[in-house]
Amino acid sequence: MIKLQNVNKYFGDHHVLKDINLEVAEGEKIVIIGPSGSGKSTTVRCMNFLEEPTSGEVFIEGKQVTAKNKLEVVRNSSAMVFQQFNLYPHMTVLENLTIGPIKLQKKSKKEAEETAYKYLDIVGLREKANVYPSTLSGGQQQRVAIARSLCSETKIILFDEPTSALDPETVQEVLDVMIQLSSMNITMVVVTHEMGFARQVADRVIFMDEGTILEVGTPEHFFDNPTHERTKEFLSKILR
Ligand SMILES: Nc1ncnc2c1ncn2[C@@H]1O[C@H](COP(=O)(O)OP(=O)(O)O)[C@@H](O)[C@H]1O
Ligand SMILES: [Mg+2]
Repeated sequence: MIKLQNVNKYFGDHHVLKDINLEVAEGEKIVIIGPSGSGKSTTVRCMNFLEEPTSGEVFIEGKQVTAKNKLEVVRNSSAMVFQQFNLYPHMTVLENLTIGPIKLQKKSKKEAEETAYKYLDIVGLREKANVYPSTLSGGQQQRVAIARSLCSETKIILFDEPTSALDPETVQEVLDVMIQLSSMNITMVVVTHEMGFARQVADRVIFMDEGTILEVGTPEHFFDNPTHERTKEFLSKILR
């Protein structure tokens, strides 16, 4: 579903991604962990060409993504959930969910609203359809952002630290929604340090360090028997 082949990324002369190779199967759930600055965000942003690799290739469903075709390919294939929810403050929840499908996918308002309610049900926020985002808690806003990504009905959803801006008491409600999504046939790539979530959902965990993929394994591998000293050291910090 997603393939990164020898992907390198430089910001100026800073070599941020060093020859990243990764294949993600259809429906697979990948969790990416690693220290701050190790290149996790840049990796997922290269998957949808929010960042263009300096060299190397990105394929989505076997189709190479290029600067030229990125809007078309990315729009049809993947959605992204960010740490900051990026909801439009001047639009209601329902409008936030329908504007993309109406403007970009040329859906009718009625059809877009039906889809929006379907996904608001999944994230448990149907009754919030007509309120403004500012009236919602952080956890609720992130659930709306997840519903918005579902409304684009793409096969891939990329999550970049979706719970790290939340109050501790609302983290779990967002993780619960993501756990629910994991039973749908959506390919999920999730940057997160929530190892309980990883254990429950991830097919594979990827540990990144200094722009490389240092270690890949099942969640159990990382809990029970990580290989590298760097991985052990990192896990000992996040698993306190
Ligand atoms: N737009 C940018 N311009 C310059 N440097 C960047 C940019 N985005 C990220 N970086 C740098 O690239 C490195 C990796 O960043 P990032 O992928 O955000 O890491 P992570 O998500 O693992 O914290 C960091 O050193 C960061 O400062
Ligand atoms: Mg990041």
